Amino acid sequence: METVSQPKRYLVTSALPYANGLKHVGHLAGAYIPADIYTRYLRAQKRDVVFVCGSDEHGTAIPIQAMKEVTTAQAIIDKYHQAMKEDFADLHISFDVYHRTSDPLHHETSREFFTYLHDRGELETKETEQYFDVGSQTFLADRFIKGVCPHCKSVRAFGDQCESCGTALSPDELINPVSTISGQSPVKRKTTHWYLPLARHEEFLRKWILEEHKDDWRASVVGQCKSWIDGGLQSRAVTRDLNWGVQVPLDDAAGKVLYVWFDAPIGYISATKQWALDNNKDWKPYWYDQDTQLVHFIGKDNIVFHCIIFPTMLKLHGNILPANVPANEFLNLEGDKMSTSRNWKLEMRDFIQAFVKKDNGGDQCVDMLRYYLTQIAPESKDSEFTWKGFQDAVNSELVSIFGNYVNRTFVLMHKLCGGKVPRYHSDIADEKDNQLIQDIAAAKARIESLLEQYKFREALFDVIDLSRKGNRYMQEKEPWILAKTVAENPANQQLIDNCLYNCLQLTANLAILINPFLPSTARKMCYMMKVVDKMLDWQNAGSMKLLSMGYSLREPQLLFRKIEDQEIAEQIQLLKSSAMQVAENQPVSPDQPVQPVNDLKPEIVFDDFGKIDLRTGIITAAQKVPKADKLLQLEVDLGFEKRTILSGIAMHFEPEAVVGQHVVVVANLAPRKMRGIDSNGMILMAEDASGKLHFVSAGEASLGGWKVS
Ligand code: 2FM
Ligand code: ZN
Repeated sequence: METVSQPKRYLVTSALPYANGLKHVGHLAGAYIPADIYTRYLRAQKRDVVFVCGSDEHGTAIPIQAMKEVTTAQAIIDKYHQAMKEDFADLHISFDVYHRTSDPLHHETSREFFTYLHDRGELETKETEQYFDVGSQTFLADRFIKGVCPHCKSVRAFGDQCESCGTALSPDELINPVSTISGQSPVKRKTTHWYLPLARHEEFLRKWILEEHKDDWRASVVGQCKSWIDGGLQSRAVTRDLNWGVQVPLDDAAGKVLYVWFDAPIGYISATKQWALDNNKDWKPYWYDQDTQLVHFIGKDNIVFHCIIFPTMLKLHGNILPANVPANEFLNLEGDKMSTSRNWKLEMRDFIQAFVKKDNGGDQCVDMLRYYLTQIAPESKDSEFTWKGFQDAVNSELVSIFGNYVNRTFVLMHKLCGGKVPRYHSDIADEKDNQLIQDIAAAKARIESLLEQYKFREALFDVIDLSRKGNRYMQEKEPWILAKTVAENPANQQLIDNCLYNCLQLTANLAILINPFLPSTARKMCYMMKVVDKMLDWQNAGSMKLLSMGYSLREPQLLFRKIEDQEIAEQIQLLKSSAMQVAENQPVSPDQPVQPVNDLKPEIVFDDFGKIDLRTGIITAAQKVPKADKLLQLEVDLGFEKRTILSGIAMHFEPEAVVGQHVVVVANLAPRKMRGIDSNGMILMAEDASGKLHFVSAGEASLGGWKVS
């Protein structure tokens, strides 16, 4: 049999989260819990592993958040770096280092990287015309510009990426671009930047990803890379005109910084350097020695950066390449996409406050969340967090199967074996005993292989399944029934001993196998078994001699509490009401008369309605009409023509909020002059039961002036 040689060391990375806000459980499930499970497993295997992460503190996302919170960019990164670090620690994500890209060590590392590539002619310069906001005198890169996505037609597309479909974009690709600083349409200005010419590396990328990794990387990852490569690799700008970030280390580059996606992945290297400094180690083998297995855990929106751009940079810089990039899909919440702007999200901190900090011994709640998020991990397709699903996973699996098995074992051992590990009478072992022993060994081998393939969901299922087998074994052996016969048939005590001996060894095995997933639970089990954490070494799994005969164990404690209906109802209510608050947070004039919503206008006949020509369109620009409190002047693209339409919605919507909005227009309404402006059509609006105004929209399909019938 061919033996696969093991890497000498591992470097595990989780995507550096932007320090512009708290992170939600979708992030946790995508890039942090899987990496933590993998790292804990490697540590239990006694392999040399370093797990690095840190805050991504550059890019336009930071100054934009500073504008929103009316503070400085520095204050933003300080606040969110600390908050994210705490939240990860509270959820037992065991980074060896949590660094930050504002650290001088990172600036120095990034500058060295850029200089290395630049000095070897691996970058090219280009003068191009880029969008510019005249009012703020700012070039509009990345998040400073938004518009309609050319791929999915969503209005939530920025100059670097579409928030809806995740496609990486450049500002020039956006339809109807507007400045996020001023809400105005931008102009074009000339500027010079440095580019990474990816096309030069096409052959390398094709061979490395599409041939060498076509079988061991996830199909979705290889698929995304293939479509990028097949689509033609464009040169990528690695610098920006911005005053926030790592300054470009060249004399002729005043006012320019490295593009955040150039410096952020280098953050993995600077974090490793920081770890080495703190632990008196050498960081270099982790980035230069081919015997290192580098694994990047990310969400699917980061695939291109980790599989195409950063590896090209690494190759040019003489570093090792990632062995795998197990990217996860997205996690939805209660039937909808998670969204910060709509407040449809469950932040890690929300969970910590509601469960971990509230419970006495909140560690079990941490493990409940880790359990559920692994059980529904979006490994091959998007998946969904529901509070009911969380409750079911905890109550029906953790409490009723795993926790119940461990508890029954302890209770029976105290009751039927005097609280001590009994003797195992191998001479009377039967088929069921032998089967259980085989099941444990087989489970260990399977779980190990699944973990090595980054299939965490299945691996966790196998751990729970093993405890299910334990319950079945105990049920079939019925030691509590045998106990009633011992007085007349003392030999039956040996059957009881064998059963509980096996159950106890299985409990110890379960602690080892669950440890990478639910570390607090494993430790609690060690406490109950009165063994040190060393027992959790992976090599111990499969043994039936983990607890020695005669050893007395502690009284059991319940591993998990139940999640009550009330708690779930509260969380759902909270989610809905906070989303509603955002929706309602529109400026409404205090003197606006409240119209009774049930008051319908007089009935019309079909022919009245048939005269109206409804067309779909998109608002491309919006501004207030001077001296008209209620009017917005809208530019609407109907696909076949552009119109100016005045709409009386200024009390309800800010101009910048409606740009990109898909609308339905009464296209054959006679033109009307208001405040000296010709209004050519009418935007359809509808009131809901509370009297709030909504756009009538045909959604994303509306671009192109479809006729609505
Ligand atoms: O998408 C994001 O949140 C980025 N901040 C991820 C960066 S990962 C790495 F390259 F640093
Ligand atoms: Zn899109």
